[in-house]
Amino acid sequence: MRALCEATLQLEDGEMLTSPEQLQFLAFLAASIGATNAIEIGVFTGASALAIAEVLPEDGTIVACDVTTDYLNSTEPAWEQAGVVHKIDLRIGPALDTLQSLLDANKANTFDFMYIDADKINSKNYYEYGLQLLSQGGIIAIDNMFYGGQVADVTCDDANTLATRELAVFLINDDRIDYSLIPIGDGLALARIL
Ligand SMILES: C[S@@+](CC[C@H](N)C(=O)[O-])C[C@H]1O[C@@H](n2cnc3c(N)ncnc32)[C@H](O)[C@@H]1O
Repeated sequence: MRALCEATLQLEDGEMLTSPEQLQFLAFLAASIGATNAIEIGVFTGASALAIAEVLPEDGTIVACDVTTDYLNSTEPAWEQAGVVHKIDLRIGPALDTLQSLLDANKANTFDFMYIDADKINSKNYYEYGLQLLSQGGIIAIDNMFYGGQVADVTCDDANTLATRELAVFLINDDRIDYSLIPIGDGLALARIL
């Protein structure tokens, strides 16, 4: 994990990496609920998939969704070196299509942990899929809820900021979940399905 994070931070887009303390916290959360089947939206170089896969049981799986393997190609050996390749089900394509395909395959209520960290305008759509795909007690974690502080800055009105601001208000009023917003990294929303 250390080598993967160091290699990722050398990339031009290295700032997309989930912070090390948040990677550890996600693993802690997934382990705390005894997660077996997880979903990740936004793989990038594979660090968060690795963190979660490491705490899944040997027969556990993380469906890891991204639109590209470009970032992964230089780092995928990290999954092999960590001995977790067999737990990672990589799906390349728009994540909304992958999530629909899981529903079509009768996988509703069969997952217990989800990490959303991709295109922010779709975070709420991914969340709604998560509510269908995860079982009661499952946790959906959503990254970048502060969006670099822009969510609290009324002068910011780009599409990603507006979508994240709207999602923050939506989540706190959603009675399908128990909700907590953690000031770690760029703001991590936690939704526990009731
Ligand atoms: C912030 S990075 C993910 C970082 C990763 N979770 C980590 O901890 O290192 C966002 C990723 O989302 C992917 N992405 C963007 N739009 C997507 C979409 N519509 N479907 C699936 N993945 C998408 C990008 O290719 C990129 O790899």
